[in-house]
Amino acid sequence: MAKQRIAVLYDIWYEEKEDSEESKPSPSRKRRKPDKEDRQEIHEALREAGHSPFYATVDGTRESLTEMAKLECDLVFNLTASWAGDDTKDVHLAAFLELCGFKYTGAGPFGIHLSQNKSLAKKIFAFHSIRTPFFAAVYRGRLDWAHDDLSFPVIVKPAREDGSIGIEFNAVCESIKELMERIHDIHEKYDSPALIEEYIDGREMYVTVLGNDNPVALPVVELDLSKLPEGTPKIAGTEVKWRTGSEAYRKTKSIIPMDLDEKTVKGLDETAIAAYQALELRDYGRIDMRLDKEGKIYVLEVNPNPWLHSKAEVALAAKESGKSYSALIDEIVNLALSRYPN
Ligand SMILES: Nc1ncnc2c1ncn2[C@@H]1O[C@H](COP(=O)(O)OP(=O)(O)O)[C@@H](O)[C@H]1O
Ligand SMILES: [Mg+2]
Repeated sequence: MAKQRIAVLYDIWYEEKEDSEESKPSPSRKRRKPDKEDRQEIHEALREAGHSPFYATVDGTRESLTEMAKLECDLVFNLTASWAGDDTKDVHLAAFLELCGFKYTGAGPFGIHLSQNKSLAKKIFAFHSIRTPFFAAVYRGRLDWAHDDLSFPVIVKPAREDGSIGIEFNAVCESIKELMERIHDIHEKYDSPALIEEYIDGREMYVTVLGNDNPVALPVVELDLSKLPEGTPKIAGTEVKWRTGSEAYRKTKSIIPMDLDEKTVKGLDETAIAAYQALELRDYGRIDMRLDKEGKIYVLEVNPNPWLHSKAEVALAAKESGKSYSALIDEIVNLALSRYPN
């Protein structure tokens, strides 16, 4: 593809703008503390692929939207994950890009909305016969049931957060008392419906999907939670993703699982692609699943525009499939551009 002028767009907000130019990406994109930010790596990869990239930011002000509307580029590489730190609002940034008539990478507002609203996503999965843990959503006494009944243990999480925000180890509840306390906490802290799901005891598998008309699954990546300290639930909660000094953080690793049989891999791939299509994702996405002891596959959630850092699961999967980091980034560019006429 010919050389493209590409705006690498990301979000910053005030507290961070002050300390240095090196502002952090929004928390939901970050698991390990990287030496280099994803945007820098993407910028380099785009140059390597022969494009001409430049940075652009939005910072939660109207002025930054006005500036964004004036960008001169062939494509926006959309790395925004929040509006001034509010990660339920990235959907509106995609809508704004759409209204401005930009070509941009990744999911559109509909895909982002469907994935972010976890109970809505689960209802859509049910329609497509994609297995997902039984659930109920409850908001200040109002109950939104989707299944007949739930059995303990359950996991309780905010219905619209990301990056394991609001999912500490006490998210897994064994009793009605624990459940009541968790629901109360979520309402208070996040002002969000609480999603109560049956806890799936099993391995945690991530499948990256690339493509539009014919999406393909990249090799499975497992988040190995088996080394978590004794007595802690095997979940990728806040501690595992964020608490850098903790044992939970140090002892979990993304690996390429070598022991999966062909049927299981096929099942994970097909489930991931079905979920990707059901929620209208585009270009690239990562599907988080659990594989239980009987080999049953459950979709936990779908991530539009997942973290593209070279150490994160998407890049690991690409590498395992023989694609260099630069080739992965260039493929996302090509997939995005090919969705638009001319
Ligand atoms: N129903 C479930 N059964 C078992 N573990 C779960 C379940 N739901 C979530 N988890 C654990 O919590 C983690 C975060 O949940 P997820 O729904 O992916 O939230 P987020 O959007 O914050 O990443 C998962 O990666 C998984 O380890
Ligand atoms: Mg997740």
